[in-house]
Amino acid sequence: MNGDEAAGSVVTSAGPVGSEPRYLSGFGNEHSSEAVPGALPVGRNSPQRAPLGLYAEQLSGTAFTEPRAHNRRSWLYRMRPSAAHPPLRRIDHGALRGAPFDEVEPDPNRMRWDPLPEPPAGTDFVAGLWTLGGNGDARRRTGLAIHLYAANTSMTDRVFGDADGELLLVPERGALRLRTEFGVLVAAPGQVALIPRGVRFRVELPDGRARGYVCENYGQPFTLPELGPIGANGLANARDFLAPTAAFDEPTGPVEVIDKFCGRLWAAERDHTPLDVVAWHGNHLPYLYDLRRFNVLGSLSYDHPDPSIFTVLTSPSEIPGQANADFVVFAPRWLVGEDTFRPPYFHRNVMTEYMGLIEGAYDAKAEGFRPGGGSLHNMMSAHGPDRSTFDRASTAELRPERVDQGLAFMFETRWPVALTAAAVDAPHRQRGYDDVWQGLGRNFPESGGSAPS
Ligand code: FE2
Repeated sequence: MNGDEAAGSVVTSAGPVGSEPRYLSGFGNEHSSEAVPGALPVGRNSPQRAPLGLYAEQLSGTAFTEPRAHNRRSWLYRMRPSAAHPPLRRIDHGALRGAPFDEVEPDPNRMRWDPLPEPPAGTDFVAGLWTLGGNGDARRRTGLAIHLYAANTSMTDRVFGDADGELLLVPERGALRLRTEFGVLVAAPGQVALIPRGVRFRVELPDGRARGYVCENYGQPFTLPELGPIGANGLANARDFLAPTAAFDEPTGPVEVIDKFCGRLWAAERDHTPLDVVAWHGNHLPYLYDLRRFNVLGSLSYDHPDPSIFTVLTSPSEIPGQANADFVVFAPRWLVGEDTFRPPYFHRNVMTEYMGLIEGAYDAKAEGFRPGGGSLHNMMSAHGPDRSTFDRASTAELRPERVDQGLAFMFETRWPVALTAAAVDAPHRQRGYDDVWQGLGRNFPESGGSAPS
């Protein structure tokens, strides 16, 4: 049975499975939407009686008193208040882990993994989450976790929400149809979805199976980076972020509502779905973004700019410019630098870099870095192009060159990433990753004199 068939048992207001959802354009906007005309109150948030017998409920993603520019909250008009639930019980969290990450001691070695193995039949998105590592502390709302997922079953009677952080979903194989409290987003490989802290959703798999990456951001919500001298436009443009329009599941039976709280999973059976929001307004919203819309900027003269120029979204910290988390994309682009080593340079970085590959190949690693796999270069670990890439790029004739063979991304974070025991011991971890830098021999003459002719 594929994902669509599994999803067929749930009745929704969003049209038949497979129909294109409608979206609202703009990042950070105050949006509003109603699935049924007249469901949205006018002129106030919480009238004595909300329209159509709905309950009004505020969902706050920031403290009530945070500055207006950062404040995120939405008002939901729903069939039942979220408060109507029985006690939560702890459930198994499988391969999901949370901060603080102290299973194994932090390891400065450079690491690389192949894609996750195919999961057992019947694995849905939540059961298919596998934690690679992370930093910070979910209880202090700092740091992040890096997860991967591999799933082959749609969620029909299970709904998930994450109190620990927002979820940036990066599909690598198979689309995700995300049925959220705010409506439906369909994220295919090459697109990303952002689910804010606390927003409940279930995941259908229109392609029958799915695999990808998750950045769970415990810190301040992702926002668009400042543009500085770039000007008013560029990088990820706000209008290309798409919020859903209101859509709800019709209640058909018991639902297991799973909440992630301080790194563990808790659940309660309910006789009604929490995806029962008929109308909403606010700015604490899920988003869809197509990475190919990214306006790639770079050097028109010489040198490879620092990869911060490729930042799509940033979660700031209290130190200006030092992100709790950055999401960076290496999108198709032209390289035109003169007298320039064009691939990413050798470097050691105070920030920690996890890289993933959505498709194709990455221009600094000729082989071994596979779609669905990933690499971790921890704080101050030395890395850069592999031997074959160095040789090629050092001698290539420097014509304008289009780099469009792959779509890679990076989760970059201010603190070192500690791995889970599962990530260290994984059969799909590549034990010989250091070898890619073997053979980068000395070219400087032995005598210390002039270079060989
Ligand atoms: Fe790097």
